[in-house]
Amino acid sequence: MVTIPLSQTQPPTVPMGGSGAPPVLDVRGLTKRFPVGGMFNSKQVHALEDVSFTVDRGETMALVGESGSGKSTAARVIARLIAPSAGEIRLDGVDVLKSERQPSLAYRRRVQMIFQDPFGSLNPVHTIGHHLARPLEIHKKARGRREVRERVAELLTTVGLTPPDEVAAKYPHQLSGGQRQRVAIARALAVDPDVLLADEPISMLDVSIRMGVLNLMDRLKEERGIASLYITHDIASARYIGDRTTVMYAGRMVEGAPSTTLLDEPAHPYTRLLVSAVPNPRAGLAKRAIQVRGEVPSLLDPPPGCPFAPRCPHAMPICREMMPGIEMVGPRHWVRCHLYGPGGTTIGSPAGPATAGLATAGPAA
Ligand SMILES: Nc1ncnc2c1ncn2[C@@H]1O[C@H](COP(=O)(O)OP(=O)(O)OP(=O)(O)O)[C@@H](O)[C@H]1O
Ligand SMILES: [Mg+2]
Repeated sequence: MVTIPLSQTQPPTVPMGGSGAPPVLDVRGLTKRFPVGGMFNSKQVHALEDVSFTVDRGETMALVGESGSGKSTAARVIARLIAPSAGEIRLDGVDVLKSERQPSLAYRRRVQMIFQDPFGSLNPVHTIGHHLARPLEIHKKARGRREVRERVAELLTTVGLTPPDEVAAKYPHQLSGGQRQRVAIARALAVDPDVLLADEPISMLDVSIRMGVLNLMDRLKEERGIASLYITHDIASARYIGDRTTVMYAGRMVEGAPSTTLLDEPAHPYTRLLVSAVPNPRAGLAKRAIQVRGEVPSLLDPPPGCPFAPRCPHAMPICREMMPGIEMVGPRHWVRCHLYGPGGTTIGSPAGPATAGLATAGPAA
C-alpha cells in the first residue's frame, strides 16, 4: 500500500490512465460552490470539491454516486455550461479555463453532452433531420444541402435508426424514448467530438432498450476513439460500460479503480455499500445489502473530515476531524479513506460479511 501525502489532494493521474498517452480529458481540483440564500444570509452549496480525474482516448470512465453527489455538476462544469469555482480542465494538455475565458466554438464541438431526458433535449417543433443538420452546418462539418442530407443519413444509420430518410422526416414525439436517445447520440457524434459526457443516458429508458443504447455507446467508443464520461447511479451498468469507475460521495471522489476491480474488491465503506446492493444471482438471496444508518451530510455546511463518516460503520475519531488522503491499494486502484492510511486498519475481505467490523489485517492491496 502506498501512501500519498495529504497535501497532494488530487487522485494520482499517472496510475489511473491506461495507455501512457496524454489524456484527452484531465480535470484537476475541480470545485463548484453554488451561492444560495439572501444578501444577509448567504451560504454556499459545496456541490463539487476537489475532483480530479483523467480520461484517455477510446476509454470510458464511469462516475457513480447517489443522488446529489455532484455527478451532473461535474459534467456541466466540464461541458462549460457553468463555470467552476476552482480547478483546471485540460483538453489534450491545454488548460482551457486559462486559454479561453468563454468556451470557444471549437470547445463546444470537441466536448459533447448527452442528457438524461432525450425528450427534453430535442425541440418538438423540429424534425430529426433538422436536429442533426444544424450542428453539421454550425460547425461546418458538411456543406450544401446534398452533403448535409447524406451526413444525416449516415449518422442515423450509425446509431441504428433506419430507414434514415424516413426517420429524418419524423418529429421527436413520433419516436420511442430509446430512439430519441439514439438521435441525441447521433447529434453529439455529428461534430466528431473528442469527449462525450453522458449524464445518466439510459435511466429514463425502458429496461428492454437500455442494453441497446449501452452497446451503441460502447461500439462508438471503440470505433471513434472517443473519451467518454459515463454518469450513473447504477454501479452495475458502470461495470458494463466503464473501463474504470470512480465513486463520488457528497461532492467528493472517494475511490477509483478499473471497473472489475472496483466491483470485486471495493475498498471504501461507501463503495462496499453500493456493491452490496447489486443483485448477485450467484450469491442467491443469502447476500445482504449493507445497512447504514445516519444522515448524508449537508452540502451547505459540510463538516470537516470524511463526508461518509456520519454513516460509516467503520468510522474512527480521525474520520470526523480530517479529510483522508489518497491511498493506493492496488494497481490503478486508489481510495480516500483513513482505514487505509497510516495507522488505519483495513476492512476484512471485500467479499466478506457486509456488517463485518474492523479487521486487524494488513494492507488491502
Ligand atoms: N444551480 C444550483 N444552485 C444550487 N444548488 C445546486 C445547483 N445545481 C445543483 N445544486 C446542488 O448541488 C448538489 C449536486 O447536484 P447534482 O445535480 O450535481 O447531483 P447528481 O449527483 O447529478 O444527482 P442526481 O443523481 O440526482 O442527478 C445538489 O445538492 C444540488 O441540489
Ligand atoms: Mg444528475
